[in-house]
Amino acid sequence: AGERESMFIVNEWAKDYFMNIMDNDPDGVAIGKQYFRSRGFRDDIIKKFQLGFALSQRDSMSKAALAKGYKEEFLVKTGLCYRKDNGELVDRYSGRVIFPWLNVSGKVSAFGGRLLDSRTKGVQQKYVNSPESEIYHKDRELYGLYQAKKAIVKEDRVFMVEGYTDVVSMHQCGIENVVANSGTALSMHQVRLLHRFTSNIVLLYDGDEAGIHAAMRGTDMLLSEGMNIKVLVLPDGDDPDSFSRKHTAVEFRQYIEDNQTDFIEFKTARLLRGVTDPIKRSEAIGSIVRSVSVIPNQIIRDTYLRECSIRLQMSEQTLVSTMNKFIRGDK
Ligand code: CTP
Ligand code: MN
Ligand code: MN
Ligand code: MN
Ligand code: MN
Repeated sequence: AGERESMFIVNEWAKDYFMNIMDNDPDGVAIGKQYFRSRGFRDDIIKKFQLGFALSQRDSMSKAALAKGYKEEFLVKTGLCYRKDNGELVDRYSGRVIFPWLNVSGKVSAFGGRLLDSRTKGVQQKYVNSPESEIYHKDRELYGLYQAKKAIVKEDRVFMVEGYTDVVSMHQCGIENVVANSGTALSMHQVRLLHRFTSNIVLLYDGDEAGIHAAMRGTDMLLSEGMNIKVLVLPDGDDPDSFSRKHTAVEFRQYIEDNQTDFIEFKTARLLRGVTDPIKRSEAIGSIVRSVSVIPNQIIRDTYLRECSIRLQMSEQTLVSTMNKFIRGDK
């Protein structure tokens, strides 16, 4: 087999190994399974996302892999293991619960491992993810896309969330058209990947400053691809996972329908709230008009400008000439 194929094969084996540990090993059940249960994850959802557990011994997975005949080279290339300076081969995810990343065709391309002991938080990173590799470019993958793609097409809409647990919990709630970009900025690769399935995206980010900030990044890229963007900010302190635990599926869906706002409207409200200084106002308006200017459809652009002119109490003529400067690429 080729190098990429060998990497997928060992990842597939490791995914099954981590699942098997969580189902059958006494520590796997008592620690890993217990962790997910305490968060309220149902067994069928754990299975659907092929979640698992890595034992805390720093070499138990690699020993099992080598005993099965998997080559060290691919354990290292996939990032399942790494070599310490003293030459010791170490499992990357030991002592963590495991979220496998499936690529769009369902092959295991990477893993995310979450710490479960909150006492070690701050000392160790909450999540450890696979490094970039021949089969995993993190700016090209979306967590959950494989499990979501049918529902995305059927609903002709996708929810974009921040994290692994948000995706899993929303499925548990019956909302399956959801993917996560894992807390990073969206890339053009990811936007094009999504656009194969739908033109309608709802950004559903954590109800904190960081979440709102994340919701603003990458949006001009989505607009320039002709995607329609809605934004939904959850109540302060909630993410989709925690929100879904406090509400029924019906309430969650209703919350979405009642609270999603059009992106340009959202951006306008957010950038201009309380801003009266003419220079700051002009910068904010420039940024809004720039977003409108990248939309490929002229009718949509014109409609937004008309709405903006009413909301901003600014002549449509001024907004149009500002936009035309952006379109021509002037400063
Ligand atoms: N993330 C990461 N590495 C970190 C922190 C976060 O890769 N050190 C990514 C993960 O994909 C995570 C997402 O960013 O799921 C969102 O981060 P956060 O909101 O902090 O985590 P949650 O998904 O809410 O996880 P939990 O509910 O388990 O705390
Ligand atoms: Mn490459
Ligand atoms: Mn967050
Ligand atoms: Mn979160
Ligand atoms: Mn969370």
